[in-house]
Amino acid sequence: MANAPELTPTSSATLGIGPGPHPDIRPFTIGGQVRIDRPFVLAPMSGVTDSAFRRMCGMASTGAVGLYVTEFISIEGLTRANMKSAARLAFDAQIERPLSVQIFGAEIERMANAAQMAEEAGAQLVDINCGCPAPKVVKRGGGAELMRQCDALGRLVERTVQAVKVPVTVKIRSGWSADSINAVQIAKRVEEAGAQMIAVHGRTRLQLYTGEADWGIVADVAANVRVPVVGSGDVTTAEEAIWRMRTPGVAGVMIGRSAIMNPWIFGQIDDLVQGKPQRTVDGAERLRVLRAFAEMAAERMPAHAIPGRLKQVLARMTKGMEFGSLLRERAMRAQTTEAMFDWIERFFVAADAGELESWAVDARGDATQVSVAA
Ligand SMILES: Cc1cc2nc3c(=O)[nH]c(=O)nc-3n(C[C@H](O)[C@H](O)[C@H](O)COP(=O)(O)O)c2cc1C
Repeated sequence: MANAPELTPTSSATLGIGPGPHPDIRPFTIGGQVRIDRPFVLAPMSGVTDSAFRRMCGMASTGAVGLYVTEFISIEGLTRANMKSAARLAFDAQIERPLSVQIFGAEIERMANAAQMAEEAGAQLVDINCGCPAPKVVKRGGGAELMRQCDALGRLVERTVQAVKVPVTVKIRSGWSADSINAVQIAKRVEEAGAQMIAVHGRTRLQLYTGEADWGIVADVAANVRVPVVGSGDVTTAEEAIWRMRTPGVAGVMIGRSAIMNPWIFGQIDDLVQGKPQRTVDGAERLRVLRAFAEMAAERMPAHAIPGRLKQVLARMTKGMEFGSLLRERAMRAQTTEAMFDWIERFFVAADAGELESWAVDARGDATQVSVAA
């Protein structure tokens, strides 16, 4: 999944979405318990949406993330006290609120126990993953395989709902393959079993991340269940997020890959909804947010792992920026966080000063020296 292709932002001009009012943008409530003030959800992304990343989005978007979802956590790992899985339950209750903990697996009692652990850790919601296409997950009966096991999934959800007081939600795909689209059937079954919200990624398991997400299936699901339905797939800009809220019956919109490129996107949506022009993001702000991210990541990660995490975010955040590829090339070679920030800072300072051309000359000079020395 870490290899999912990047998204190319659409031209928002054609959507006709400008600064508010936007009557389609309304709060919604999950299971009569959890109110989602802003219907824009940070999608779960394995290897990406750890607590540091979630907090970075919250910080960049000045608290305008409607709902935070963890990366998926193995029920096997949680119930066998695997340290890595347990660490994924950690979050900052002040910032990451409301928080949904997503769990994956297939065994009924383990799922119920893992949901209790998530609840005890402070999650306001527990989400069951029925969309992960990874072979190692599917082969063991979890993720998207559950879309082929409608009855077993129903029992799994029923038991999990009984086990916890917080609402249980489910995230599904449109089906397993193009000739077995069954999101509506699955959604009805999990609703009957007690699921209180359903998120739909409009692609099949076999599609992985190819093609376009089908928002028609999101509308079909919404037309057939009473619980809130959140759509997921290919939202690239604030305008597009607001536009997707016009999908019939949809209660909310999830944003995944675009939040890696642009963690400010939730704040930009909020700006438009409040009738303001959406915030622009200069180099100083990018630097501030990246530094905060590195610091937050360092709270729970060994120092040697930080450059890798930073590279992942930097690679997406600088995509399409003038001389972004040169920055990436230079920063990616850095071995330490400080050495990376040396490159990042000089780049963003030059960008704000309109001096990227001369920055590039220097950077290329350094690159030549390095390769000559090598
Ligand atoms: C790197 C990556 C990891 C993902 N991990 C998860 C996951 O752990 N759980 C899940 O339900 N979906 C996961 N997804 C799917 C996203 O939540 C989302 O449904 C999908 O990326 C489509 O939305 P987008 O176009 O806004 O990215 C992942 C997607 C990506 C790109």
